[in-house]
Amino acid sequence: MGLNFEYLEGQTPIDEEEKLGLKVPIVSVKRELDEFEQKNIEDAMLWSLSNRWEARTVFSTEFLKKVHKQMFKQVWSWAGQYRMTNKNIGVEYWKVASEAKQLIDDAHHWYEYNVYVRLELAIRFKHRLVSIHCFPNGNGRHSRLMADIIMSHVYKQPVFTWGSRSSLPASEIRSTYIRALKQADRGEFGPLIEFAES
Ligand SMILES: Nc1ncnc2c1ncn2[C@@H]1O[C@H](COP(=O)(O)OP(=O)(O)OP(=O)(O)O)[C@@H](O)[C@H]1O
Ligand SMILES: [Mg+2]
Repeated sequence: MGLNFEYLEGQTPIDEEEKLGLKVPIVSVKRELDEFEQKNIEDAMLWSLSNRWEARTVFSTEFLKKVHKQMFKQVWSWAGQYRMTNKNIGVEYWKVASEAKQLIDDAHHWYEYNVYVRLELAIRFKHRLVSIHCFPNGNGRHSRLMADIIMSHVYKQPVFTWGSRSSLPASEIRSTYIRALKQADRGEFGPLIEFAES
């Protein structure tokens, strides 16, 4: 299709084969794609606000896929389906299903036994999820919405702000986010929690 997008720091490029799954009218620049996706994601947020989900629903692999599908189904035919190719981030594609299941099982345990305080559970879940990288694209946004759903639906708490209250330029906010993810890769979750609340 010859689409050549530019990506921000830490974004996963979309493969040629995955581009064939585009459902919206020809998009030539990444910004147009971002707008279609943004509209879809806003609809998904409204959908999440009009529902009530309990922990045993939220912490399931079916729900993970359902949320991704709801966020991207207007734009991509593979919305809600685990990826079939390897990416520069994430586990080998054939391990996605088992790693996602393992995360869900761990999250049940964390929740049931109050292993972590609420904020930390939501952020650890978000970080493990984006590290697995379940889908061809949209993993960052999906993981952030999942953390928000954990806060609002499971714990009845306000959602995260994800850097939106910061007065720094967008590129610096992005760098702070990526740096915090890398610190979380090393088991240090404070900076990512701080970013999510900024
Ligand atoms: N070193 C890293 N460790 C863990 N996660 C990372 C790392 N680098 C990037 N990421 C995550 O991968 C995401 C990019 O993946 P992908 O392109 O699938 O998501 P996206 O929703 O399209 O992007 P974005 O989150 O930028 O809106 C980043 O947002 C970030 O959350
Ligand atoms: Mg992306």
